[in-house]
Amino acid sequence: MIPLLDRRGLFLGDMFMEQNKGNSLLSQIDLENLPRHIAIIMDGNGRWASKRLLPRNFGHREGMKRVVEIVEAATQLGIDSLTLYAFSTENWKRPEKEIDGLMNLLVIYIRNELNRLIKNNVKLNILGDISPLPNIAKDEVKRALEETKDNTGMNLNIALNYGGRHEILNSIKLILKDIEVGNISIDDLDEEIFSQYLYTRDQADPDLLIRPSGELRISNFLLYQIAYTEFWFSNVLWPDFTKEKLYEAIIDFQKRNRRFGGI
Ligand code: IPE
Ligand code: IPE
Ligand code: MG
Repeated sequence: MIPLLDRRGLFLGDMFMEQNKGNSLLSQIDLENLPRHIAIIMDGNGRWASKRLLPRNFGHREGMKRVVEIVEAATQLGIDSLTLYAFSTENWKRPEKEIDGLMNLLVIYIRNELNRLIKNNVKLNILGDISPLPNIAKDEVKRALEETKDNTGMNLNIALNYGGRHEILNSIKLILKDIEVGNISIDDLDEEIFSQYLYTRDQADPDLLIRPSGELRISNFLLYQIAYTEFWFSNVLWPDFTKEKLYEAIIDFQKRNRRFGGI
């Protein structure tokens, strides 16, 4: 295993550099100009499986391997926050068998990976309302949240039963309650305070949003937070999204001229 440095410290360990000397993509990344927050819509698992005449859940299983790979790569680069869209508020429309398979994979992911996340100082956060999840999935998620809560390394945000519209409405309800009990006043409410009511509170907005699978849409992801996010689309299906694709996206991101409305 590669020793990891705190994300706020120096980024790449000597060993990591040494091991990846031959990786020409990695060597093109400017470590001084990394996106602080990368968000990914992990899409295309079903098509990956269909192309191979396999059931859709095989695609999700293969996609989970990329989750492990991309989390590891982002951690080693020293990314502050990685947000992965795993299940949307609209994905409940899918057949029960597929939903069960996805929930089962979540349980397997936590059981297989929690020790590694802890070792790598990763802090897990969930974006979304997990209350409708099956108990077994909820229990594993709560265990992982508890066991990583004091970690100070990368924030790994898993968007689960997440919808951008739900998140905004939920924030408004929480704010109205706080106004009602006098915790804040309407005049105090500004963008900074509003963002504290979002699931991503205390984290920077995504600098880079990646969507594989060829779809050019947002699908209700991080609607508030993506105001000035750079988008990177690829036709590659998520189960084929190796760490080299992540490096490509970061290299491309680093060539962009972000103006934030200025000149
Ligand atoms: C995974 O890809 C995204 C999830 C909702 C888990 P899909 O299952 O949407 O794959 P496609 O888009 O049908 O290929
Ligand atoms: C977005 O993918 C949700 C996740 C990746 C979890 P979908 O496959 O659900 O999106 P649409 O339906 O193509 O917009
Ligand atoms: Mg899809």
